[in-house]
Amino acid sequence: MKVFWSIAAVLSLWAAATVATSCYYDDYQTLYGTGGTCDTAAVSFATDIQPIMSAQCAGCHGAASPSGGLSLTNYAQIAATTSSGSMLNRVHLPAGNPLAMPPSGPLSSCQKAKLRTWKRQGALNN
Ligand code: HEC
Repeated sequence: MKVFWSIAAVLSLWAAATVATSCYYDDYQTLYGTGGTCDTAAVSFATDIQPIMSAQCAGCHGAASPSGGLSLTNYAQIAATTSSGSMLNRVHLPAGNPLAMPPSGPLSSCQKAKLRTWKRQGALNN
């Protein structure tokens, strides 16, 4: 009988441990390591996209003599470059690729996620 209870105890510990560790949820932040919160539910041009462009792109893609002849300083230019796909192509190239943008190093995964969401939501002037 003693042996029976020992086995029962070991089995119930194993069952408890299995149940306690068996739930796993795919979580965007855990998978992609965005660090902190990355809210991509509703992305706004004014509060999300334009600040990324000003900080990371406009230094070269400014209004006067922009690099590659591409200015990224207003909504129309940014929306056109996003809708054509060239913006997302460039920012998703791996670091070290001579065509990757910005050339100094990739945007954060949160910034890239926001650009993708903004495009998917129609690249609105919102
Ligand atoms: C340090 C300067 C610099 C920064 C910062 C920079 N770019 Fe560029 N970009 C260039 C140069 C130079 C070219 C032209 C050469 C080439 O096509 O790679 C270019 C070209 C491009 C092109 C292709 C233009 C075309 O008509 O084919 C896109 C799209 C682009 N950049 C997007 C971006 C975006 C988006 C950012 C910010 C996330 C950015 N760039 C930041 C220098 C820069």
